[in-house]
Amino acid sequence: MIFHHIPVLFQPVINLIAEHSPRRIIDATIGGAGHARGLLERLPEAQLLGIDRDDDAIAAATENLEPFKDRATVRKGVFSDMKAIAASIGWDHTDAVLMDIGVSSHQIDDPERGFSFRMDGPLDMRMDSYSTTTAATIVNTASQEELETIIRDFGEEFKAKFIAREIVKRREKKPFETTGELNELLEKIIGFKHQHGLPPATRTFQALRIAVNHELDELSNALKSALELLSPHGVLAVITFHSLEDRIVKRFFQYEAATCVCPPKMPICTCGKKQTIEILTRKPITADEEELKSNPRAACAKLRAAMKLDIH
Ligand SMILES: C[S@@+](CC[C@H](N)C(=O)[O-])C[C@H]1O[C@@H](n2cnc3c(N)ncnc32)[C@H](O)[C@@H]1O
Repeated sequence: MIFHHIPVLFQPVINLIAEHSPRRIIDATIGGAGHARGLLERLPEAQLLGIDRDDDAIAAATENLEPFKDRATVRKGVFSDMKAIAASIGWDHTDAVLMDIGVSSHQIDDPERGFSFRMDGPLDMRMDSYSTTTAATIVNTASQEELETIIRDFGEEFKAKFIAREIVKRREKKPFETTGELNELLEKIIGFKHQHGLPPATRTFQALRIAVNHELDELSNALKSALELLSPHGVLAVITFHSLEDRIVKRFFQYEAATCVCPPKMPICTCGKKQTIEILTRKPITADEEELKSNPRAACAKLRAAMKLDIH
């Protein structure tokens, strides 16, 4: 199968994980297995479990990892179920977890998946077939208030109220079926230049995609599971593509790396908080100019990593 996706921050990810010489690795977002192949090539002793919720990714990764089939297993599922999926192959711990979250180019560039406002297709946006709720379901059935909340909270769109009202007005005439119809409305009501010069549909489409796939809950739950699964000195590496995701990772790392979470005015520490990780990236790693030239989609990518501490 042809699966078009260039893995972002490839070298930094491989170097960072390889430095910890993991024997077991979970790639929780295997996609086309670009990172996974790089890891298996670099670490000839390592075993890898690859997870993805997307059927195309599972097929592509299985094919791409054929030369490594003795050391690689690919399973369909969501990464919040990482512990159960790992248990299904007899793993109760791992030495590294990689999460390269968001959508792949393969998903974005297929108009039939409905992720992109640049191409006309069904207003779908599901990463997998588990769910029956599509972006069209939300746009056509959510209340105006629910739409406003989704667009504001998941899109950080300052015109959320106005957009929600216009969507509801438009759907009363005819329900939305395609990405083109929604994009056309957004261009009409917002105009061509919007927040930070982004096309007007950018933030609303991002919001719907997050809502359809429960992306932020998935991420929060998966971070906890990854930490539980990691062995002492194991490494967790997470690549995010927008500020909402990055904020979740950053706060999770800050909390887990903290030695005390008592209110600042407390004279002595009573919280009993234990530091569980050491942050390996004080600032997130981003793409260099060379990578950006060959893959402009890497522009938003941020890599953060942490090492689990040996706590008794
Ligand atoms: C950016 S791509 C990963 C690309 C991969 N690192 C590579 O080298 O080809 C993100 C992948 O994560 C998957 N994904 C997103 N959210 C997921 C979730 N909650 N559980 C499992 N897979 C998920 C998507 O289906 C997509 O294939």
